[in-house]
Amino acid sequence: MNKVDVLLGLQWGDEGKGKVVDVLTPRYDIIARFQGGPNAGHTLEFDNKKFVLRSIPSGIFQNGRENIIGNGVVIDPLLFMEEAQALEESGIALKSILKISRKAHLIMPTHRLLDAAAEALKGSSKIGTTGKGIGPTYTDKVSRNGLRVGDIERNFAQLYQQARDRHLGMLDSMGWKGDFSDLEARWLKAVDYLRGYTLIDSEHYINHSLAEGKSVLCEGAQGTMLDIDFGSYPFVTSSNTVAAGACTGLGIAPRTIGDVYGIFKAYCTRVGSGPFPTELFDADGEKMCDIGHEFGAVTGRRRRCGWVDLVALKYAVMINGVTRLIMMKSDVLDTFARIKACVAYEINGVTTTDFPYSIDDNNISPIYKEFPGWQTSLSNLTDPSQFPEEFNNYIKFIEDYLQVPIAIISIGPDRTQTIVRSL
Ligand code: GDP
Ligand code: IMO
Ligand code: MG
Repeated sequence: MNKVDVLLGLQWGDEGKGKVVDVLTPRYDIIARFQGGPNAGHTLEFDNKKFVLRSIPSGIFQNGRENIIGNGVVIDPLLFMEEAQALEESGIALKSILKISRKAHLIMPTHRLLDAAAEALKGSSKIGTTGKGIGPTYTDKVSRNGLRVGDIERNFAQLYQQARDRHLGMLDSMGWKGDFSDLEARWLKAVDYLRGYTLIDSEHYINHSLAEGKSVLCEGAQGTMLDIDFGSYPFVTSSNTVAAGACTGLGIAPRTIGDVYGIFKAYCTRVGSGPFPTELFDADGEKMCDIGHEFGAVTGRRRRCGWVDLVALKYAVMINGVTRLIMMKSDVLDTFARIKACVAYEINGVTTTDFPYSIDDNNISPIYKEFPGWQTSLSNLTDPSQFPEEFNNYIKFIEDYLQVPIAIISIGPDRTQTIVRSL
């Protein structure tokens, strides 16, 4: 095994990262989140229990594994406390298995207000953010105004006051009026709760661990199409969701990275605004949403559904240097008589398989290849030898198109509904 592997989403998020990180955790010593924050909702199901993780890595349910929230993550102490306390109540000794980078940035109550105010000002061109203050927090980081976790060990009250006052000035100019004293009081209490965790210089910790021969799995949040540089800008999140983000978000050198696991659904979803070339507005889309229970884990919003987009996936494979693919939610397509995959875009009469600068314009027509459906349930299969021929054909076509093997196939939400083809 390589010392550092990365697992990340290739589409618009919600590919099933949490489930697979949990499945792969026993193979690693450390599981580390490298970007994003409580905009993420990573769902895990096992032993008839279901958990949704927001800021905490998905490696906490397998005994003895260390979990790290890296410097590239943004943390809201209040949401972190709620998440952590619920896990502690269900018997997870979180304080002994979780460490948090001092360099991670803090999401303040005023960041949430700024997020909402910015969205309101954008009107019909709003991004449809999760409303968790992600954009304003990363903006403060880049403009060198941010508060970091390590600041809670220093002159925090003063730093907080300065940042808060600056935000209130901005909110005033955006026309925001209101009272957030209750939210602020709860947030400040949660900062005290955060002090009860082990705060570390995670770049040192991880590199020392690697030198001792330990292995690390980096857990991505969101997906490549939401990456701040390579996603469908401006309808993206504010961090680098791609493999390079693991280097900056954890302080590991590029040459330490071995496998990059790229995870995608057998179809495609998107939540929030923004272009989505293969989106379906018909009965097939409705059916995917219903069977796949496509409702956001964070906001409960209905996810938009469509056919798998191999043009976008090819681009995501290139940007991330994906070495192994993981295909999720294959079972959702069990009852479809015909299945489609987008193999090219037609843009202004020209056919291309290269993902263009912008997919914003409504002039993209997806070109589809059709496959006969397998029309049988995959959910209880245990071995690739049991796959129906039509399903094998679908897998083979995607592998050939993307030139990367599909190593794992998921056929249901439970930990056990995971079929490893090659690892
Ligand atoms: P993440 O953000 O990438 O971790 O994904 P989410 O948890 O937001 O969304 C994935 C959803 O699909 C969750 O509700 C999972 O329980 C569910 N899920 C994961 N894998 C499968 C699968 O193979 N089949 C089905 N039917 N559901 C799955
Ligand atoms: P996981 O990790 C799906 C989307 C939002 C919005 C855009 C910007 O569960 O896959 P933000 O709050 O980040 O400023 O919102 O990004 N978005 C996600 N969509 N899964 C996620 O995370 C997402 N995190 C953010 O819906 O369109
Ligand atoms: Mg999710």
